[in-house]
Amino acid sequence: MKDIMTAPFLIDMIRTTTNMYNHGWDERNGGNISVLLDEGDVSAYLDTNTVLRTIPTGFSAPELDGKYFLVTGTGKYFKNAQYDPENNLGIVRLKDGGETAELLWGYKDGGRFTSEFPAHMMSHVARLKVDSENRVVMHCHPANLLAMTFVHMLDEREFTRTLWQMCTECIVVFPDGVNVLPWMLCGTNEIGEATAEKMKTARLVVWSLHGIYGAGRDLDETFGLIETAEKAAEIYMKIAHLPRINTITDSMMHELEERFGVKAREGYLD
Ligand code: 13P
Ligand code: ZN
Repeated sequence: MKDIMTAPFLIDMIRTTTNMYNHGWDERNGGNISVLLDEGDVSAYLDTNTVLRTIPTGFSAPELDGKYFLVTGTGKYFKNAQYDPENNLGIVRLKDGGETAELLWGYKDGGRFTSEFPAHMMSHVARLKVDSENRVVMHCHPANLLAMTFVHMLDEREFTRTLWQMCTECIVVFPDGVNVLPWMLCGTNEIGEATAEKMKTARLVVWSLHGIYGAGRDLDETFGLIETAEKAAEIYMKIAHLPRINTITDSMMHELEERFGVKAREGYLD
């Protein structure tokens, strides 16, 4: 059995939580990440027959039965994951149609997975239906996207178009756009279901007055998705109060579609 501290999936997770903290997206315990792992990768580092604890999830997700996830712990600080991974992170396997999580490693102090576990697992189900290679769901609190939800209308088409207009390459990075939820109580199955519904049509879902969710095939891609949207929101917050005399037009965006071989979300460009 190999030392789990050398597992690429764990190293990648620690690098990502550290990087997100350094970007200011994850104050205190803000934010959470879940990564779908292959059974073969897990069993190289852990005896998958040894279950440390079972934890009820409070929801069902039959599509994920038997699946393994590396998940940040609730109440844990992203900045600390690098110093004490076994306390701040955990590896679980879902069973009983997703109603129970078997803890195989981590949450050493008796902790458990993020309070946003429903939103994560339900989003995995939704994204896997669109892209069988989706592996990551990531949530954080980037300041500019959050700020934008206080001053910009929450209409998804308008919100997406504004972000696309802020940086030339936004439409290339997230042609599917950004979906937006109104403020909802976090940590509930209800916000989980609403997030998963929004994940059917876009890999980015803004939680108004709270933060953002991203989904992707690996941690780097998902981080990059949020990073690009957050950069666009930063530019918006710098210019929103100033007269705009130049902009990225729809015809420029059509040129970008052609040059980069992407298709903007149907009906979002004139
Ligand atoms: P957790 O500490 O439970 O992951 O919650 C953080 C958060 O961002 C809630 O939305
Ligand atoms: Zn949050």
